[in-house]
Amino acid sequence: MITRRDWLRQLCALALASRISPAELLKPADVPNLAERAQRKNIMYGAAATMGSVRNDAAFANAVATQCKVLVPENELKWRRLRPAPDQYRFEPADWLQQWATSKGLQFRGHTLLWPDGEPDWVSGVVTKANADKLLREHVSRVAGHYKGKMHSWDVVNEVVFPKHGNPFGLRDSVWLRALGPEYITLAFRTASEADPKAMLFHNDAHLDYDDVRGNERRAAVLNLLRHWRETNVPIDGLGIQAHLTAAGPNFNPQKLREFLKSVAGLGLVIMISELDVNDKALPAQQRSEVSSSACYDYLSVVLDEPAVMGVVTWGLSSKYSWMNSGADRTAGLPLDAEFQPAPMLHALARAFDEAPARPQPRKK
Ligand code: XIL
Repeated sequence: MITRRDWLRQLCALALASRISPAELLKPADVPNLAERAQRKNIMYGAAATMGSVRNDAAFANAVATQCKVLVPENELKWRRLRPAPDQYRFEPADWLQQWATSKGLQFRGHTLLWPDGEPDWVSGVVTKANADKLLREHVSRVAGHYKGKMHSWDVVNEVVFPKHGNPFGLRDSVWLRALGPEYITLAFRTASEADPKAMLFHNDAHLDYDDVRGNERRAAVLNLLRHWRETNVPIDGLGIQAHLTAAGPNFNPQKLREFLKSVAGLGLVIMISELDVNDKALPAQQRSEVSSSACYDYLSVVLDEPAVMGVVTWGLSSKYSWMNSGADRTAGLPLDAEFQPAPMLHALARAFDEAPARPQPRKK
């Protein structure tokens, strides 16, 4: 058997011959590959990214292609970007990302068809009770139809729950809700399912993670909605849990979260952790990576215990490109640092994948 000393000696000789340092030689094997670690358990891992960051930064594109099995366009499919005017559809940026993802063997996940917070102003100006049904169908079928057969999944609706607005089912106030009532969501799911029968269809929502008043209200409202949709045969496949965590955040109650996930799974739905990152901006910079990575590990080790959780998407891959950055003040709550080197959070994710129970097979429609 070769001793560690001999092995290091050989490594040094190799390094000298090839003019690279032993440290560099060791690097590739040392960096956990998240896509691969997750895939061993039939879990999918990926990240959200913008077209600009992937197209203009080759090193970043390479990191995404290496670490991910699924790519989510961070903004390019949101109504505000995609359809700035009623008769103007700008598919090019999302098309570019979709083609790039396919060329690298990554799946593509659509975010999002309807988002009350992401609609351009013209929408509220044109929607009436008389035309809402037609406008909603038109948008959903045009966009979902454009990517027919190319989408792994769609967030059909995003952030539609907001119990404080006092509407039936705890729904967020929106032009669609006012015009069509809660059934606007059913209409969106049915239209998406007709336009792209193979894509998995998700309700994606926020603030479902913590044991505070908001978390309790949202989990209850989401479960109530999901039950209603299952009873009325709405073609929904799963729940997306955004999981924008906070490093020094509200109380985390593993038991409550487990029960919630189990109830969702009990309805025959899958779960995607769809926008994971850790907001660490309240912490001093030197504490951020440590606190973020342990918050991420604590969360994932609970969540991945539930076999219905089929995947994890981080909202960004590197802290060079995070929506939480403000100027030079960068978050550490993503897997790679700003130089695309592994951050402690990458090791937290890899460890959580390693410790997760294996799913019998990857979940597909
Ligand atoms: C964010 C993007 O990351 C930002 O670049 C953009 O300016 C605003 O939207 N929940 C969601 C995502 O569902 O779409 C949001 O993405 C982050 C919060």
